[in-house]
Amino acid sequence: MDEILQVKGITKRFDDIVVFENLNLTVKKGEVVVIVGPSGCGKSTFLRCLNALEDIQEGEITLDGESINRNKKDISRIREKIGMVFQSYDLFPHLTILQNITLAPVKVKKRPKAEAEKEALELLERVGLLSKKDNYPRQLSGGQKQRVAIVRALIMHPEILLFDEVTAALDPEMVKEVLDVVLSLAKEGRTMIIVTHEMQFARAAADRMIFIDGGRIVEEGKPKDFFENPKTERLQKFLQTFTYDDEK
Ligand SMILES: Nc1ncnc2c1ncn2[C@@H]1O[C@H](COP(=O)(O)OP(=O)(O)OP(=O)(O)O)[C@@H](O)[C@H]1O
Ligand SMILES: [Mg+2]
Repeated sequence: MDEILQVKGITKRFDDIVVFENLNLTVKKGEVVVIVGPSGCGKSTFLRCLNALEDIQEGEITLDGESINRNKKDISRIREKIGMVFQSYDLFPHLTILQNITLAPVKVKKRPKAEAEKEALELLERVGLLSKKDNYPRQLSGGQKQRVAIVRALIMHPEILLFDEVTAALDPEMVKEVLDVVLSLAKEGRTMIIVTHEMQFARAAADRMIFIDGGRIVEEGKPKDFFENPKTERLQKFLQTFTYDDEK
């Protein structure tokens, strides 16, 4: 498999806080990498560095061999190759669902409106929301809005998709409908980096699991080994926080 994303020795600091130091990660085309770790360990910051929403103090990030650098003139062109979905969906309230989805492909990518709409409708059908195309975001549930946010990323044909705790703000009954969509994307060979606290989902979606703690990658491996035989005590402890002791 080809390497598509290379993170080489990056260090991220906020003033005197070191979030991570000398972090390395290579992602292959079609690979699904799931990152877990305690709150505040830098998962969101890491994803934000990948599409240059944050600058880095040392090291280099390359996508498709091109350096990702916040100060680069053509950073917006490189950013178009990266689709990002966050916890908050940030849909435009005054636009319909269809308009929300077609805005960027038409305005940024200069695609013909009819063509963008056709693809938008196909994607909406895929996530089970075709009937909502003419509704406004306020008329949708959180889980529905998050699926629209995923469609909005997909229609840009990104080379890599980044997901940051996309279900963290949702009511429990809506979590599955969103994770099912993400899982189906993972299974069709897209390149993805997913940050999540949903461990069952992580195990089902990941080709490779990564555990970040204390500013570095503490452990990584295939999901089966990672969950069944964690090698480090820190990962063992972390995974225990997701299990319930029913022998009490
Ligand atoms: N803009 C900022 N300025 C200063 N410090 C920041 C900033 N953004 C994040 N941090 C700090 O960087 C560290 C990593 O934060 P980050 O949000 O990346 O963690 P996280 O792993 O995503 O946590 P969570 O699981 O709670 O989402 C934290 O200590 C946080 O306080
Ligand atoms: Mg976060």
